[in-house]
Amino acid sequence: MQNQATKLKDIVASDTKKDTPHTKFIAITSGKGGVGKSTISVNTAVLFADIGYKVALFDADIGLANLDVLLNVRCTKNILNVLKGECSLDEIIMPIKENLILIPGDSGDEILKYSDQFIYERFFEEASNLNDLDYVIIDTGAGIGEHTQLFLNAADEVIVVTIPDPAAITDAYATIKITSKFKSHLHMVLNMVRNAKEAQMIFNKINKVAKENINNGFNLNLIGSVQNDKNIAKSIRNRTIFVDEYPNSLTCRDLKNIVKKLIFKLEHKVLDDTKEKSFSGFIKRLIEQF
Ligand SMILES: Nc1ncnc2c1ncn2[C@@H]1O[C@H](COP(=O)(O)OP(=O)(O)OP(=O)(O)O)[C@@H](O)[C@H]1O
Ligand SMILES: [Mg+2]
Repeated sequence: MQNQATKLKDIVASDTKKDTPHTKFIAITSGKGGVGKSTISVNTAVLFADIGYKVALFDADIGLANLDVLLNVRCTKNILNVLKGECSLDEIIMPIKENLILIPGDSGDEILKYSDQFIYERFFEEASNLNDLDYVIIDTGAGIGEHTQLFLNAADEVIVVTIPDPAAITDAYATIKITSKFKSHLHMVLNMVRNAKEAQMIFNKINKVAKENINNGFNLNLIGSVQNDKNIAKSIRNRTIFVDEYPNSLTCRDLKNIVKKLIFKLEHKVLDDTKEKSFSGFIKRLIEQF
């Protein structure tokens, strides 16, 4: 078996190693479960990787349909085992395809319990292998749980996914309201819509309520929509990645538009310089909130 550490280095190490980490963290969340967070996480991550960005998917959801299932890999250990000192970071990382790795995570409930200084130091040292990552996409659990909020708080950009269903919209709004306490802006993706027009109409309604009820200059932005497409479920059943299987579909175009807009936003934004832009910096931010 090929050594995991070598594989990891092959995947994330670039020829021109940049001196300072520049990783951007995008958290994908929702109010209600089952609205497409994992689908959007996986497919946008693959699109970022296909363009040539170095990407990690961080699975912060411990729900049933985990990212390892969607990506057809088997993870037996996760970041908790690393933080407990039971294995190394390299051992848990799963190479998915060129430029893309999966980091099996934890919902946050447990991560913060393990604060052994020695293990953290080793972890942060090991995590320097990940300094070349351009993007980390975090698939969070649904709902407004305290620990999900920690991930949202530590991320650079947060995307709230919803579907046109009224209950999902109400729950999405609850997430937006709570998250607006510590984020100046949030993005939304309207999933399983008929078309972009329907997405815009729903977004306008949510945005109107947000504008009336959340002041402090908070800004909600529709970053895109994804149409309802039965082939998405088909890809999941076949354990294939939708954007790889249907690269010319309208739904793939929807997903590409989201990626384009994210790149535009993130590459043109002067990021908060006080933040450490590395995977270890992200975990530090998580822990420091506790
Ligand atoms: N645009 C879409 N069109 C049709 N079906 C979709 C679409 N997006 C997601 N689905 C389907 O919806 C279901 C839920 O998707 P997914 O698992 O990505 O949601 P989730 O928000 O991650 O769920 P959970 O909260 O359980 O983690 C899946 O069966 C998936 O195939
Ligand atoms: Mg999910």
